[in-house]
Amino acid sequence: MKITKLATLAALALSVTFGSAHAQERKDPLLSNIEQRQAFFKLVALYYGPLNAMNKGDMPYDAAAASAAAANLALLVQLDQAALWKAGADRSFSEASTTLPKAFEDAGAIDKGLESLAAAVAALVPVAGDGLEPMKAAFAPVGGTCKDCHDAYRFKE
Ligand code: HEC
Repeated sequence: MKITKLATLAALALSVTFGSAHAQERKDPLLSNIEQRQAFFKLVALYYGPLNAMNKGDMPYDAAAASAAAANLALLVQLDQAALWKAGADRSFSEASTTLPKAFEDAGAIDKGLESLAAAVAALVPVAGDGLEPMKAAFAPVGGTCKDCHDAYRFKE
């Protein structure tokens, strides 16, 4: 009897916890979208990081690590981006976002920027493991696409 009661209480507590988490998600889809977009870029930065460090000489060149990082970037840029850029999920809605409203106003700009990134990553993949110099030459345009888009569409303090 006691165990049944405990189990019922636990189930109730769980449903309350999950129930409120769901309610919150429904309440604020734009805020969730901002977080999801930032999570995407955090992953991009995770794989960009070692390539950038090798490029700058902060980390010794490692062919296997460079190839793996480039391959993971190539996987990430295949994700469907439409879901990550919900209209209105920008800094005019919440200061949690550094996406300028301009990113949505300039039709096709984000798509174009992401296509440039994907093309630069596609060119990096086959040479990332070929040595420091070939990697650096192909890495520069990748960094260029990050910078171009950030300069145009990211809020800076
Ligand atoms: C087409 C545009 C575009 C491209 C290309 C792009 N970014 Fe971004 N990035 C953004 C925008 C917009 C944000 C702001 C997201 C927000 O806060 O809503 C952002 C945010 C970030 C963040 C912060 C994420 C957080 O935790 O808030 C990192 C890190 C980042 N980008 C890294 C990169 C790197 C590295 C590259 C290139 C390999 C890159 N980005 C390419 C537009 C771009």
